Amino acid sequence: MKEYVRFEKSRQRTIGFVPTMGYLHDGHLSLIKRSKEENDVTVLSIFLNPTQFAPNEDLSKYPRDFEKDSRLALESGVDALFYPKAEELYPNNYQTYINVEALSRHLCGKSRPDHFRGVATIVSKLFNIVSPDHAYFGQKDAQQYFIIDRMAKDLNHDVNVVMCPIVREKDGLAMSSRNVYLDPQERQQALCLYRSLEKAEEAITAGERNAQKVKAIIKESIDQNPLAAIDYIETVRTETLEPVDEIEGPTLIALAVKFGKTRLLDNTIVRI
Ligand code: PAF
Repeated sequence: MKEYVRFEKSRQRTIGFVPTMGYLHDGHLSLIKRSKEENDVTVLSIFLNPTQFAPNEDLSKYPRDFEKDSRLALESGVDALFYPKAEELYPNNYQTYINVEALSRHLCGKSRPDHFRGVATIVSKLFNIVSPDHAYFGQKDAQQYFIIDRMAKDLNHDVNVVMCPIVREKDGLAMSSRNVYLDPQERQQALCLYRSLEKAEEAITAGERNAQKVKAIIKESIDQNPLAAIDYIETVRTETLEPVDEIEGPTLIALAVKFGKTRLLDNTIVRI
């Protein structure tokens, strides 16, 4: 991959990069489309990164379909597919990790303490290999985006980290590789994430600024669904991810809700 990138760069071609863990859906395809619009060459990586899964999170059950992924990559016009083996990126005696400190402790970091250390480490390694000019991440994993953007700046990666809008199913459910785990009842009740965010946005548009009240509106809406177990509902400042009491300035309203064993994320960013 490094030689390919060196060759393309020697021809003054810009490199767009879409890192994934595979099991591609329309959300990933929207990142590829954006990269193709903004770069000469688009590189897609598929790597199921073991260091971002805790021992209880069952990496072996994560959905995979490499044949379908490579077909979709080809059809969507990806120029190079990078799918390294775990032992290539984490050889014996591997010891170096990246910790984006405060940002990784908020939101998902509370219940997944080592998750973002694994994400920052693998993305930094991939940036070193692919040397992209632009790298594309979905807003659904907004905390991941802010952590990677901070990491890239702090470690002098010469890359523009781009956040792309959430892609939703027709009924509003945010696309995620994990949606395949939902049974039909869970899938139906999972719509409460999107709907509760819509209610929060309506209240803010009508003038509500109190974060506790906005969170209460979301909770009430989600609580009507007996299969939903709320992990968190948070209103935080974008960039720092510090909790806010008042909705003013760019604010991330983020949710994590479990349905059985499946933990779903959704969010909206309001700019007042
Ligand atoms: O969002 C993902 O799919 C992963 O966290 C990423 C960014 C590819 C790192 O493994």
